[in-house]
Amino acid sequence: MTVSLMNNTVANDQNTAASSNIVYETKQMNLWYGANHALKNIDMKIMENEVTAIIGPSGCGKSTYIKTLNRMVELVPSVKTSGEILYRERNIFDKDYRVEELRTRVGMVFQKPNPFPKSIYDNIAYGPRIHGIKNKKILDEIVEKSLRGAAIWDEVKDRLNENAYGISGGQQQRICIARALAIEPDVILMDEPTSALDPISTLKVEELVQELKKDYSIIIVTHNMQQASRISDKTAFFLNGEVVEFDKTDSIFSNPADKRTEDYISGRFG
Ligand SMILES: Nc1ncnc2c1ncn2[C@@H]1O[C@H](COP(=O)(O)OP(=O)(O)O)[C@@H](O)[C@H]1O
Ligand SMILES: [Mg+2]
Repeated sequence: MTVSLMNNTVANDQNTAASSNIVYETKQMNLWYGANHALKNIDMKIMENEVTAIIGPSGCGKSTYIKTLNRMVELVPSVKTSGEILYRERNIFDKDYRVEELRTRVGMVFQKPNPFPKSIYDNIAYGPRIHGIKNKKILDEIVEKSLRGAAIWDEVKDRLNENAYGISGGQQQRICIARALAIEPDVILMDEPTSALDPISTLKVEELVQELKKDYSIIIVTHNMQQASRISDKTAFFLNGEVVEFDKTDSIFSNPADKRTEDYISGRFG
């Protein structure tokens, strides 16, 4: 497969634990924004080919946590961390860990669709081009495969040269998912990817997430508890920067172990 050419070296380098099905392991991880202790002693194991949902009230640290997984959070100058996050058994906080490699393995989709002001084609070809792929035929293949993977090929195949701003918000979000797929990631992080979408587009993205977990590991922040219960295998309930409970989604929603989880999922706060 042509697409995998671009990150073979990275996969060989960092996928030493090919047999392990733990993708990420967070161990006693803390994060501060200046004096604000935003994540406290986080312990989590994220498994391969699962959808892991992160729920919890506004400000509890959900976005901070997933932005830590690809080290995007360190763009904020006041950030300090402690503990470990192992990605494929290597601590991403290690001084010699190459963040560029991590970014080629971990794609991210944001709350508001954020396509580039470029054609649909160029949005998808952007990452592969950065990785040095220039061959038009190979790029064509990557673009088609990624758009198919994001379940939007049929809708845009005749308008690949149109600006991505010209399509609906729901379509733009699937373009952003296709853009993430184009680098052949291992993990896809999604931060409330449907909160700006209408119900039909939301359903399409939810179906897509279910489809994508066959090939990827997905971590999705969602405000919507029905969504978490519909699409995830595991759910973590965050509160004030702590993981109150992390378990199989069925257990979290039908038989939560912690009173605070029960109060939250039954709508008593948040
Ligand atoms: N860039 C930032 N600089 C300083 N503090 C931040 C920043 N982003 C988030 N925070 C703080 O970290 C805490 C967690 O925020 P966030 O991770 O965005 O929560 P959530 O996604 O659950 O709503 C909040 O107290 C928030 O104010
Ligand atoms: Mg958030």
